Amino acid sequence: MTDSATLIEYGMPINADSMVTPPDVTELELEAGHPGQGDAEYLQRRKELFALCRKHRLEKLGPPLVNYTDEETRIWREVSPKLDELHLKYASQIYLKAKRDLAITREVIPQLRCLSDRVKRETNMHLVPAEGALPYRTFYEYIAERGFPVTQFIRHGSHPEFTPEPDMIHDCLGHVPPLMNQDYAELLTLIGKAASSTPHGDHVLALKRFSWFSIEFGLILEAGETRVFGAGILSSTGEIPFSLFSDDVVRRPFVTNKVIETDYDPSRMQDHLFVAPSLQFLRAELEELVRRLGITVLR
Ligand SMILES: [Fe+2]
Repeated sequence: MTDSATLIEYGMPINADSMVTPPDVTELELEAGHPGQGDAEYLQRRKELFALCRKHRLEKLGPPLVNYTDEETRIWREVSPKLDELHLKYASQIYLKAKRDLAITREVIPQLRCLSDRVKRETNMHLVPAEGALPYRTFYEYIAERGFPVTQFIRHGSHPEFTPEPDMIHDCLGHVPPLMNQDYAELLTLIGKAASSTPHGDHVLALKRFSWFSIEFGLILEAGETRVFGAGILSSTGEIPFSLFSDDVVRRPFVTNKVIETDYDPSRMQDHLFVAPSLQFLRAELEELVRRLGITVLR
């Protein structure tokens, strides 16, 4: 991972500069094949929330209070109980405790402003309203300042168990609860500081993969049992059993040098996963990686 001219991401060669100078997306763009394409009411709502969250993000206003519609509440009430059942069986204890402490329920879509205040009291992290998925380095610039960008829109109702982009169900039921854990918060913040400090695209890519195979798609050992803690797994009813039980998944111990050399395809179920022995282990591994890459953390 030293020659930035040969960076590969998602199986394709990429320009290393794109890792350090991310684009700014100023208008709502739904990818081709998005289930909300062609639904004028959905598109209108998404545009409204895009503008509101972008304004609150750029003007540092904190998460806006949102009046969720009946349809949005219906989708939450359809998806969150199914996820909750799976969480109780398979999620890490760190996650389950935090979800209880945050009082996230199956019935009511939480207001990010309330979650942010609660997380802030616990670990001094806070939530930043995001109009959509932010470019990787922009995302980690917020995290370096202990802010976690979170979306405030919900997937399209025609496919309640599927979203081609991170939405509020992914963020609130995947990413937010572990922010209540101090080791997790420090792990995340260091990824953010390192990723937003380095001028080298290959370093950013290494940190992105470290994050992908821990924060996003990590498995963790607890009392000799493999449990789920990555947000991408925790927010998908298909991915939770697939990650733990499918014969199509290769599960290996978390070895940082292997992790940072492993490419992935975010558009499919993840068939290569790493199992970390603990959050403290991940934190120590990350500190060592940042030292080894020679990144001077600027913040
Ligand atoms: Fe995510």
